[in-house]
Amino acid sequence: MNTEYIRVDNNKSCNEYIKRAGEIIRQGGLVAFPTETVYGLGGDALNRASARKIYEAKGRPSDNPLIVHIASLDDLPRIAESVPESACRLAERFWPGPLTMIFKKKDTVPEETTGGLKTVAVRMPGHETALSFIRAAGGFVAAPSANRSGRPSPTTGERVLEDMNGRIEMILDGGPSQIGLESTILDLSGCSTGNGADEPPMILRPGYVTEEMLREVIGGVRYDRTVFEKADAGLRPKAPGMKYRHYAPFGTLRIVKGDRDAVISYIREAAQEARAAGKRVGILACDTEDKGYEADLVLRIGSLSDEAEIARSLYESFRTCDDQKIDLIYSEEFMTKRLGHAIMNRLLKAAGHEVIEV
Ligand code: TXA
Ligand code: MG
Repeated sequence: MNTEYIRVDNNKSCNEYIKRAGEIIRQGGLVAFPTETVYGLGGDALNRASARKIYEAKGRPSDNPLIVHIASLDDLPRIAESVPESACRLAERFWPGPLTMIFKKKDTVPEETTGGLKTVAVRMPGHETALSFIRAAGGFVAAPSANRSGRPSPTTGERVLEDMNGRIEMILDGGPSQIGLESTILDLSGCSTGNGADEPPMILRPGYVTEEMLREVIGGVRYDRTVFEKADAGLRPKAPGMKYRHYAPFGTLRIVKGDRDAVISYIREAAQEARAAGKRVGILACDTEDKGYEADLVLRIGSLSDEAEIARSLYESFRTCDDQKIDLIYSEEFMTKRLGHAIMNRLLKAAGHEVIEV
C-alpha cells in the first residue's frame, strides 16, 4: 500500500486533504493524525473491520481496547450508555483536551473497538486538525497511538512514517506534538448516573490532567495500583494496554534513583563498565550542566524546572537511542512537580520497573 504523507500545518489546501482523510475513514481505511498528546492511528470506531485493520497495522494484541475520539459533546450519548454527572463536569472543564473517560458502552460500538469489553474509552482531542478530521470522518474515530506495538508513541509525523509507511492510507503531519505524553485515562464506568458514585473514579493512566486537577472538579479519585507498581499475576491493570512492556526503546533501560551526586557517580561508573564490556550505552539526563557523563549517546531531555520540555522529549529520546542502536540506557529520575507521575509512569513501564536505588 502506498502511504500518502501530507503536511497540514501551514498548508493552504489543508481543508481539502482533511476532507479526503475523512473519506478514507468512512470507506474503512486508516489515517494517522496529529493530536496535542501524541499522534493517533485512526479508523472508523463504529466499523468492526476498521478496528481489526488498526490492530493489524500496529501489530497489537486485539484484547487491547481503542480510544474513541469525538469532536462534539452531542455525540457522546451515541456511544456511551450512561454518562454520570461528574463526567459532564469534567468534559466541560477539560474537553477538548488530554483527558480520556471510560463509560459503559452502547451497542453502536462494536466489541472489536473495545477489545471485547463492555466499556468504551472516549476523548475529545484539543487540536484543531484532529477535530476537523474527526468531523470529516463521521464523528467517531478509534485511535491508538500511531506506533508499532511496543514502540514509543510517535510525537512527530516523521516518526509515524517510520512505523506505518506502507501499512496505512494516509498520514497527516501537523508538526511536533505539544504535550508528548498520552492522555490521562479516568475510569468512570463504575459510577452511577445519579449523585451517588458506586465506585470512585479511577485513574488508569496518568497524564497532563493530574489527580489534583480532577479532584478540583469531582472530589475523590484514586489510582489503579499498577500505575506505579509492577503488574503480575496477582495485580492486573484495569487498562489492558498497561500490562505490556510499553513505550519502550529496543535497548535495556535502567532508572537510577537517589541523591543527586550518588546518581551521577553511579551512572558515570556503570556507563564506563558497560562500554568496556562492549555495550553501546546511552544516558538520559535532565538539566544542561555538564555532569561528566561519557557514553555513546548523552541526551539532555529537559530541565527539571521545565517539566513540559521533559514530557515533550521523552519518547523522541527513546527513539533517538534506537536510531543509534543503543543496547543499554541509564536514565536519571524525573520526578517533577506536576507532570512527574505521568513522566515516571512511562519511564517505569519502559524500564520494566528496573530501578536502581543508590
Ligand atoms: O493521548 C492519547 O490517549 C492517544 C491519542 C492518540 O489520543 N491515544 C492513546 O491510545 O494513547 P492507546 O491505544 O495507545 O492507549 C489507550 C489505552 C490502552 O492502555 C488501553 O488498554 C486503554 O487505553 N483503554 C482503552 N479503552 C479502555 C477501556 N474500555 N477500559 C480500560 N482501558 C481502556
Ligand atoms: Mg499506545
